Amino acid sequence: MSKKRIVLSSDHADIALRQSIAAHITDRGYEVLDIGPTTAESTDYPKHGEAAARHVASGDCALGIIVCGTGQGIMMAANKVKGIRCGVCADAFSARMIRQHNNANMLSIGARVTGAGLALDIVDAFLDAEFEGGRHATRVDMITALEG
Ligand code: RB5
Repeated sequence: MSKKRIVLSSDHADIALRQSIAAHITDRGYEVLDIGPTTAESTDYPKHGEAAARHVASGDCALGIIVCGTGQGIMMAANKVKGIRCGVCADAFSARMIRQHNNANMLSIGARVTGAGLALDIVDAFLDAEFEGGRHATRVDMITALEG
């Protein structure tokens, strides 16, 4: 089975981290859509969170990984797009659990919070986990119902 297509985006806070995530998951056999930005010029995280989220919400990409300074602002923007469930993770356990229990389809990382090595472990935990369904599906459906 071919591996999932993953969209990556960030703001200016750490382009290098985003690029190292791209290289890492490409090495792991994933198809990567890196939508930038390509320079470290100051930019507005909401538009990058939204852009990545639209690729996931449309089904163009199965999952998304986004980066800003804290991971928080870009996550908030992504979660405004219908169908997106994005969590900020600074540890691998949470990254695994947001897939297994919350069926998260996006992961956000704070580049000024989380070191580059740990960030890759977090990414691996997220990508290697699968949604467990069952009672968790009922709860995720409750989240979806809040979208109106
Ligand atoms: C940019 O300076 C910073 O505010 C942004 O990367 C992020 O941390 C916002 O949540």
